[in-house]
Amino acid sequence: MPVSEGLIAGLIDLNRADDEGLAAQLTGQLRRLIASGRLGKGRALPSSRQLAGDLGVSRNTVTYAFEQLAAEGYLAASHGRRPVVIVDGAERIDAAGAAISRPRAPKPRLSPWASKLQQADWPMSYQAPLKPLRPGHGDAREFPNDIWGRCLRRSAVGAARRELGPVNRPRLREALAHYLATSRGVRAGADQILILPSAQAALTLIAAAVITPGDEVWVENPGYPGAAAAFRASGARVTGIGLDEQGMQRIAGQATPTLIFMTPSHQHPTGRLMSLARRTEFLRASRPGKTWIVEDDYDGEFHYDSRPVPALQGLDAHGRVFYVGTFSKAMTSDIRLGYLVAPPAMVSTLEIAQRHIGLIASSHIQEALAEFIADGHFLAHLRRVRRLYHARRDYLVAGLERHLGEVLTVEVPSGGIQLVARLKRGRTDQAAVKRLGEAGVVTRALSSLALGKPRDHGLLLGFAAWRESEISAAVRTMASCF
Ligand SMILES: Cc1ncc(COP(=O)(O)O)c(C=O)c1O
Repeated sequence: MPVSEGLIAGLIDLNRADDEGLAAQLTGQLRRLIASGRLGKGRALPSSRQLAGDLGVSRNTVTYAFEQLAAEGYLAASHGRRPVVIVDGAERIDAAGAAISRPRAPKPRLSPWASKLQQADWPMSYQAPLKPLRPGHGDAREFPNDIWGRCLRRSAVGAARRELGPVNRPRLREALAHYLATSRGVRAGADQILILPSAQAALTLIAAAVITPGDEVWVENPGYPGAAAAFRASGARVTGIGLDEQGMQRIAGQATPTLIFMTPSHQHPTGRLMSLARRTEFLRASRPGKTWIVEDDYDGEFHYDSRPVPALQGLDAHGRVFYVGTFSKAMTSDIRLGYLVAPPAMVSTLEIAQRHIGLIASSHIQEALAEFIADGHFLAHLRRVRRLYHARRDYLVAGLERHLGEVLTVEVPSGGIQLVARLKRGRTDQAAVKRLGEAGVVTRALSSLALGKPRDHGLLLGFAAWRESEISAAVRTMASCF
């Protein structure tokens, strides 16, 4: 909608703390208002004196912005006159500053993959505001950045002498193979490990390599939306399988599909642990070469109440399991590193696909991480945050039970970084999430993780990333919202 003149200053939001200077901010914001059509062609802007007064900035700042936009062809500005907009939002400016009409762009014809991708898009956890009790993350403030910085520095110094050939760095593959074997019971040679920018990249790569459009894929319901999205985009028919106390239900008598995606260590989002019996059942039902299992062990490092249950991959003697992991939870979300342990028969296909798509993680970071793991810093960090997250889980559970026991039923997970609290008495979770968000507490609706019509309503709450003082303030705020 076009903007009346008196409101122009109200649309400008300058931040004095921003590294970008005030003049550059003002220029950018006016440019966007013109390009979007909100300041239409022929519109006179306030004088530099008036706008400077309205915004509380110096007149020079405004004069700079006007001159810059005049030089770019957006404004006609002459001395002593108010500048006038000379293009409209539908026009573009060419390199010489002249307005050129934007041709009416026809709707682009997308590939089946991109069309499906758009329907399958979902909000990732790091798109939510960084506020208690945002789920899906560990506490970046606890990460030993000084040690990590030293590893990065040494890796950078060594870069000049490094072979660029192996995209999956051998030292990191070795370190990871050893860690996964000893900590998670994964049975794989280092050469089966692909290092990727995320676990999500691993899911996309697997989908691209094994799904033929029309194939059936089972996922947990409720479950991790990123997995359903990756398989849907490849043309799979995705079926949500319900959960019971042992995790994903095995549907007796039903033929198994092309692929089964599961999070057996801590089911996402409920945190349930898949029993050994159930794991074995799924493995038995999956015929080698016909049904793949994708085991996403996104936060298997964090177990609190019992000894960790080894990965399902380690039980598989027939090469049916893709094992996927990430450093987003165990280190920090912005490290952007994940990995995929491929069944032997799939390694070379996946390596070609990895290079082809360019899903190659930076050698600098891979080498730094290899050192971080080999020198024991990774395990030391895990030991420390495991204790901390365990205490935070207990603290959140106790707070919820004390202050919100009437409205919520807490499901206490045996590990992980988040928990589900179910809403009692027929309440719907979307409205609760909205109300809590307005009060400053970030949660996720359990129903938003359902495939099809949601059966359960609840809140997904993160505990690992938040200090006890933050958890206690958030719980008090939550109590005032119900
Ligand atoms: C179950 C599950 N798998 C995978 C991921 C994605 O990890 P990454 O950040 O490495 O893509 C997440 C992130 O929230 C997750 O919850």
